[in-house]
This record gives sequence, structure tokens and C-alpha cells, in this order.
Amino acid sequence: MIVSSDFRTAKLPLNNGSGDMPALGFGTLIPDPAVTISATRDALEAGFRHFDCAERYRNESEVGEALQAGLAAGGIAREDIFVTTKLWNSNHRPERVEPAFEASLNRLRLNYADLYLIHTPYAFQPGDDQDPRDQNGNVIYDKGITLLDTWRAMEALVDHGKCRAIGLSDISLNEVLPIYEAARIKPAVVQVESHPYLPETELLQFCKEKDVVFLAFAPLGHGMKPGLLEDPVISAVATRVGKTTAQVLLAWAVQRGTALLTTPKSAARARENFDISPLPEDAFNEINRIQTRQRLNQVVKTGVPGFIPQRTQT
Ligand SMILES: NC(=O)c1ccc[n+]([C@@H]2O[C@H](COP(=O)([O-])OP(=O)(O)OC[C@H]3O[C@@H](n4cnc5c(N)ncnc54)[C@H](OP(=O)(O)O)[C@@H]3O)[C@@H](O)[C@H]2O)c1
Repeated sequence: MIVSSDFRTAKLPLNNGSGDMPALGFGTLIPDPAVTISATRDALEAGFRHFDCAERYRNESEVGEALQAGLAAGGIAREDIFVTTKLWNSNHRPERVEPAFEASLNRLRLNYADLYLIHTPYAFQPGDDQDPRDQNGNVIYDKGITLLDTWRAMEALVDHGKCRAIGLSDISLNEVLPIYEAARIKPAVVQVESHPYLPETELLQFCKEKDVVFLAFAPLGHGMKPGLLEDPVISAVATRVGKTTAQVLLAWAVQRGTALLTTPKSAARARENFDISPLPEDAFNEINRIQTRQRLNQVVKTGVPGFIPQRTQT
């Protein structure tokens, strides 16, 4: 259920009653530290109030710096923004969850998070190496821990009050179901890749039935060309409604009842991506009928991400 018909300010209620998530989210997976700061400030100024972060992005400090300065400059209260961060694979052991969460909060200069996600369902060898590999270059997984063990530690964070909601990311419906069934505190959000080439219809249906927010990343298909931004159906709709293809793709995501994450890196693109409005019903249905199927990000299959800045955390 969407709380407003103005897509720029539409919100989705969280199932634990802790608040609403703005549907339009700004993602902070940006390799360059200076661009992280400028893009985050630009997004805040354009009107974005939902920020998606992760310890794995190695730029929480820059995001925290930009948010602190941006809130002060804009007279915006902490309560007026929604901030998510994520637990990385090498911190799945229950005793590592709270320290990892506290470290993220410190870097972000926050005293609570609106949402904490398990970044992927894959547990890696516990430790400070985010990408543990054996001598053959293969990822070292941690077989001694289940996702439910980690989920229990996530529930404790909500109990302790510094984290308002918890959820899952890069996960299939088959993996969400057992956690949902066993959870004392149900997942409030599931973050996955989704766009017209990967609609994830079954997972979306499940989320709607259970009041779990479906949060789509790569709504523009990671900006790859050729790709969604040049798709003939999307382009035709864009021409018809007088919007850009990016605006059409973002509007489609909100119109189907999901939240989304987009990562514009300039002020002009931040304003463009924020300025979205409902599509006519026939245009919405035309996009729903696109038959192309493509997954761009393989993280869901291995827990190993693409698009990660290589510098070390400072
Ligand atoms: N859970 C996960 O594992 C996971 C994985 C990936 C991403 N995410 C989250 O999702 C966020 C979104 O990332 P994304 O890559 O999926 O975002 P996206 O918005 O689908 O794609 C970003 C790309 O689109 C381009 N772009 C942005 N606005 C545009 C516009 N108006 N017109 C044309 N091109 C435009 C950008 O180009 P420029 O660079 O030239 O601006 C960039 O290359 C990330 O920041 C992260 O927070 C999560």
C-alpha cells in the first residue's frame, strides 16, 4: 500500500509499525569518495529522503559526513530521513552482528538506523577480510552458521532499540520463506534486483501478501547500454508522456507498489530522478508486457558483489 499518490513523496508502511519508508531511495554504492559526498548532498537537496548504505560499500564515513552537513544546511531533521545500512557476509556470526552494526552507525554519524539488512544470505569466513579467499582464489564460506542464527542476532538489535526494522537482501523467495516463518520479528523489507527485465513477480506477490516492502535495486538496469534506458517500449512511453526513460522506469517501479534505489551522480540527474509521476494505465501495462528477461547482478548466486570500490576503509 502506497501512502501518497505523489510519487516523489510516496511512502510504504513498515510491517512492525516503526514508520514508513519513502518509496524513492538514493543508493550510495559509489566508488569515488568525493563523488559519494557530492552525490549524497545533491540527492538530499533534490528531495530524496531515503538513503541506502552498506559497510561493504566502504564509504559510510563519506555518506555520514554528507548527511550531517546536508541536514544542517537544509534545516532537515534526522527523523525526516530514512537510513538503511547492511551487515556484510563476513559478520554473520551472531557475536559479530552488534559490533558490525555499531561500527556502521559510528561511520554514518547516526545514533539509530531506520533499517538494517543482511546484505546477502551467504556467510563468509568470519573476520575483518570482507573477501576471504583460499589459495585457489575461491571464496571461503562459513559452514558453521545458518541464516536463522544471524537473523536472531538481528532481532536482538531491534530489541536493543538502535535499529527500527530489519530485513534481507539479495535473496530468493525460497530463502525468504523459512526466515519469515521462523522469525519472531518478521523481515520488514526485502531488497533485490528488479526492473522490467526482472520483475520478480512471485516475490513481489509474497511481499504484498505479508506487508513486506519490496525494495528494487537496479531500476535503471545499472544504467547499462544497450539496456533498459534504450528499450523501445520504455522509449516510446517516455516520448508519449514527455518524460525521460529513467523517469519512466522509476515511475513504473513505484506504480507497481515497490520502493526503489537509484544512484544519480550529478545534481541534474538527482533532480531528474526525483521528478517522477504516475504513468497512464495503458503505458504501465505495456511495460508489464515486456518479455525480455535479464539478471544483471550475480551477487544473489554467490554472495560476491560487483560494483565495489577497491580502496580500503579509512
Ligand atoms: N543489495 C545489493 O546487493 C545491491 C546491489 C547493487 C546496488 N544496490 C543498491 O542499489 C543502488 C542503486 O544502484 P544501481 O546501480 O542499481 O542504480 P541505477 O539507478 O539502476 O543505475 C545507476 C546507473 O544509472 C545511471 N543513471 C542514473 N540516473 C540516470 C538518468 N537519469 N539517466 C541516465 N542514466 C542514469 C548512472 O550513471 P552515472 O554513473 O553516469 O550517473 C549509473 O551508471 C546502489 O547504490 C545500492 O545502494 C544494492
